[in-house]
Amino acid sequence: MKRLSPRLKEAAALVRKVDTIADIGTDHAYLPIYLIGHGICRRVIASDLRKGPLENARANVEAAGFGEQIELRLSDGLTNYRADEAQDIVIAGMGGILIAEILDKTPWLKRGDKHLVLQPMTHAEYLRAYLMANGYRILRESVCEDDGKLYCFMSCAHTDEPQKFDAFYEYYGELPNSSDQLAAVYLRRLAARCLREAAAIGETDKKRSARLRQIAQKLESILANKEQ
Ligand SMILES: C[S@@+](CC[C@H](N)C(=O)[O-])C[C@H]1O[C@@H](n2cnc3c(N)ncnc32)[C@H](O)[C@@H]1O
Repeated sequence: MKRLSPRLKEAAALVRKVDTIADIGTDHAYLPIYLIGHGICRRVIASDLRKGPLENARANVEAAGFGEQIELRLSDGLTNYRADEAQDIVIAGMGGILIAEILDKTPWLKRGDKHLVLQPMTHAEYLRAYLMANGYRILRESVCEDDGKLYCFMSCAHTDEPQKFDAFYEYYGELPNSSDQLAAVYLRRLAARCLREAAAIGETDKKRSARLRQIAQKLESILANKEQ
């Protein structure tokens, strides 16, 4: 079995031990092969928007001998899934805007028994804002390092309970509650990026650069509180 990247290993660590897991945008099906190989679930539905990745996935699934346990499916997001087919859903390695679009097209994800593991490559703040506005609770977040880069993971479920969010929550989510040092490193890098962007914008868009400075200030105060 191919060694799984630290990023996809983190996705595997966040799913629950359930019967069936859906892997959306599976590409080479590395995650489904690991999940079955490690007995994390009985079955995986591994889907992709495009035929090419699914062909790669098919070759890898057959080589691993998991053709019975991993179903490969062509699907734009979860449009070709039924609500009762999977309990945990992984959407990793896509932009945060695309992940939010996929969630938005799938109202049955709001059933309380569904658990989502999301890993946006970009626009994590956009995805959090979508989750906040649509009744999803971020249960926990974690950060992993892979090849020198940091990746943020969100574990979420829908809730009917009203939620209150602090200012700028979409920029940090549940990361301040993580005891992992990498979460602090991620937030520090984000604060530095906001300050760099604010400096680059300067006088050309005063409102935007002021907001970026406020975000950086909030992140720095969270980090200072964590260090105490
Ligand atoms: C960068 S790969 C990520 C693969 C794997 N999930 C990972 O995290 O390593 C993104 C995959 O998502 C697929 N994809 C893009 N948009 C999609 C959509 N709307 N629905 C399903 N798959 C999609 C692409 O075809 C591609 O195989």
